Amino acid sequence: MPQSLPPIPDSFALGVCDYPEHVPWAQWKEYPAKIRDLGITYVRVAEFAWSRIEPAPGEFDWQWLDDAVEALHEADRKVVLCTPTATPPAWLIRQHPEILPTDAQGRVKAFGSRKHYDHASPVYREHSRRITRAIAERYGQHPAVAGWQTDNEWGCHGTTRSYGGASVEAFRVWLERRHGTTTALNEAWGNVFWSQDYTAWDQIDPPHLTVAEPNPSHVLDFYRFASDTVAEFQAEQVAILRELSPDRWVTHNFMQFFDEFDHYKNAEVLDFASFDSYPVGLVDRSDLVDDDDKLRFARTGHPDLIGFSHDLYRGLKGQRAHWVMEQGAGQVNWAASNCLPAKGAVELWTAQAFAHGASCVSYFRWRAATMAQELMHSGLLRHDESPDRGAFEVANLEIDGAPNGETPARVALLHDYESLWAYDTQPHSKGLSYWRQTYLFYAALRSLGVDVDIRHPDHDLSGYDLIVAPAIQLMSADRARHLASYAGSARMVFGPRTAYRTPSGMVPMDGAPGPLRDLLGCSLTNFDGLRPGLTVQVDDEEVSYWAEAYRVHDAEVVHTYDDGPLEGQAAVVRKGNVMTIGALSPILIARKLAHLLVEAGIAVEPLEDGVRVARRGGLTVWMNFTEDEVTLPDGRRLGPVSYAVS
Ligand code: GAL
Repeated sequence: MPQSLPPIPDSFALGVCDYPEHVPWAQWKEYPAKIRDLGITYVRVAEFAWSRIEPAPGEFDWQWLDDAVEALHEADRKVVLCTPTATPPAWLIRQHPEILPTDAQGRVKAFGSRKHYDHASPVYREHSRRITRAIAERYGQHPAVAGWQTDNEWGCHGTTRSYGGASVEAFRVWLERRHGTTTALNEAWGNVFWSQDYTAWDQIDPPHLTVAEPNPSHVLDFYRFASDTVAEFQAEQVAILRELSPDRWVTHNFMQFFDEFDHYKNAEVLDFASFDSYPVGLVDRSDLVDDDDKLRFARTGHPDLIGFSHDLYRGLKGQRAHWVMEQGAGQVNWAASNCLPAKGAVELWTAQAFAHGASCVSYFRWRAATMAQELMHSGLLRHDESPDRGAFEVANLEIDGAPNGETPARVALLHDYESLWAYDTQPHSKGLSYWRQTYLFYAALRSLGVDVDIRHPDHDLSGYDLIVAPAIQLMSADRARHLASYAGSARMVFGPRTAYRTPSGMVPMDGAPGPLRDLLGCSLTNFDGLRPGLTVQVDDEEVSYWAEAYRVHDAEVVHTYDDGPLEGQAAVVRKGNVMTIGALSPILIARKLAHLLVEAGIAVEPLEDGVRVARRGGLTVWMNFTEDEVTLPDGRRLGPVSYAVS
């Protein structure tokens, strides 16, 4: 009888990612005991192991994996198994080259790394189901197996969208299902513009290689199609895992700030969401932090970039405890410069994960790889198997074993991938993006010391006292009604470009904000895309990237523009509990948010840059991401790169 395992750990646990196929058995067999001795409970295996599980078509070699799972079981460890579909083997690609995806330039991508498949390929779908069934039949009921991870990082290396092969026909089928007739599609996309009308489905291609930019509504539907296709690909695997591996959970390791697919829809079939956290690589790559902060936080990562991911992934399944499936514990190999983390950073990231609601942090990886693409990446063990810096910090942890209590946020920040796609297809101002705008509001809230849940605009938002919608650009009548239903119980804030488009990506016939006009009490008059360096002022605060103004119907004008072409026009308006902010000014936005938080009775604790706080289960975790000692609001001192629990 399979041993019954709790679906999600009820106290904070640790895990590690390991690749038994990378190490000779004589060495590997010592690992389970060492993993146990470090206090690590979960071990994720078999993630990319297809070519060693099935070396030739239909010929399976399970011995090495049987041995590894058994050895972990004997050491009383819990196993997280993966469907190995991120890496279709060479023999499969030779047999079926049509599996390979096509990039936006029309080039077929090649074998030789990973994620080389088109999710719409019927042939690949069949093999994905076949290998999932094989591994689930073998291990689905093994007492050591706690749960499953599907594939690896949907969208990694820009692989959500394939512009050729099977995706072309599948896109047409998807369009016909969505629109019914080409006449309806022409209407929804506004194809009267530039004579883009279609009269048959087979005239429609993915939106690439066009002479000028493609129609943004065409792009939006293609992105939706690709996103749905990935979700469908995963759902097929999950159905098999549910059938053959009952009482085990299924998750996926999403990657921070990947945005080519709708994570909310994708997670519908999962038990909880996980994500991969590489703070040092992320801060190097992200364009959400400026060069000064890239340097300042080079060895710790930026707390708000990491915090955003926790708050997002915690919220994907309605606040169910999420995991960090891969926590970098040293240097990565994929940033432009890959520096070592500061002393204390691994402990700090782990404490932050706990404070933001994670139920398990699993480090990447147990032993540094001695081969291939990632041989410059760190592990908890060095290449020579001696413990590396991260391992010493894991051994020092005090937070493991703490109860996985609730996170008590009273503020919801709304986030929507479809709005992101629409926004970023036409950013209209150099350097501006959906993420930049959304993150600006998020960072302002976190700098005020409040806890934040990130939720989808169509979620149930009852219970929140402040609802912040930084950039919800797509607005249907249903969504508008849903949001309006909270205006009596919560204060609400809407950012620039709110409700600028209908769900098909056009501007409402009565202009923005279309169906939100009654709730906001104003309508958009003009917007001003400010090139970098060009600024305007509102209430003496500097506005950059974007300024928009409103005509007020039944709202009060809170601030007007001090200068520029919009001088004298409304920049911030308020109708009852609802505030609309049209000027992208970090200071003005933080001021307005602070004001509304106080009104809502939520304590505001302005924190210095790099210092953050988060609360969970009655504990308050203070975090210092700077390399200097800091003073907390209550006067206590907190050392560099460290945390304190009270
Ligand atoms: C992750 C990926 C891992 C590994 C890691 C290196 O994004 O899931 O397989 O490549 O990066 O940092």
